[in-house]
Amino acid sequence: MSYIQLTDIVKNYGDKQEIVHALNKVNFNIEKGEMIAVLGTSGSGKSTLLNLIGCLDKCTSGKYIFDGKDITNYKDKELAIIRNTKMGFIFQNFSLITDYNVIENVEIPLIYRNLLLNNGKKLNKREIKKLALKQLKEVGIEDYANKKVTELSGGQQQRVAIARAIVNEPDVILADEPTGSLDKNNSLKIINMLKNINETNNTTIIVVTHDEQIAKFCNRIIRMEDGVILN
Ligand SMILES: Nc1ncnc2c1ncn2[C@@H]1O[C@H](COP(=O)(O)OP(=O)(O)OP(=O)(O)O)[C@@H](O)[C@H]1O
Ligand SMILES: [Mg+2]
Repeated sequence: MSYIQLTDIVKNYGDKQEIVHALNKVNFNIEKGEMIAVLGTSGSGKSTLLNLIGCLDKCTSGKYIFDGKDITNYKDKELAIIRNTKMGFIFQNFSLITDYNVIENVEIPLIYRNLLLNNGKKLNKREIKKLALKQLKEVGIEDYANKKVTELSGGQQQRVAIARAIVNEPDVILADEPTGSLDKNNSLKIINMLKNINETNNTTIIVVTHDEQIAKFCNRIIRMEDGVILN
């Protein structure tokens, strides 16, 4: 059995009058520790697929097995726990909180985890700060910890986003165009960082990209078109 098993996944948006078939019976199996690139034209369903895998959204029909459990019909709260304890997200636009400084942004997943867990494993403020700083070191921007995120370059902001994505030590990292707004040099740095995380921790990584050069860093490339995966 694969680590992630998506079977006949359909995702529709909207209602009968204006229905969008974003995913049209997608079948996709992912093994633990794979690093996969998802390529495809705009509107082919890449982000929709990533959001479903990351438990940010639910499919219209089909079956989702994650790590041996059928989570297709999990309630929002149960999905939130999986999302927060197993998944790390990196988005194209960084989606950092601009009212927070760098280290506060990285602390967010840890604070959420505290809210979700009631089993005595809660971290105190100092432990949270320490862990966040450790991740900033990991991506090479600990010197910027107390700066506002708006004072950072695009490449630096994306490193903050990576630190935030890995601070909870996720089993799966979902990266939607993580190098989309970066120049070539910064893109290579970011993809190398992800590759390194994949190889060091056996983290499963799925990267949506339009860049064939970036896709080459992955072990497997899948291509999407009109809501299906091409073979
Ligand atoms: N929240 C939504 N409501 C309605 N339609 C949506 C929504 N999100 C996506 N869609 C539609 O679903 C289809 C797939 O969208 P998706 O965002 O998954 O594409 P994508 O491959 O990520 O494209 P891009 O490369 O432009 O990011 C598109 O036709 C899009 O317009
Ligand atoms: Mg997209």
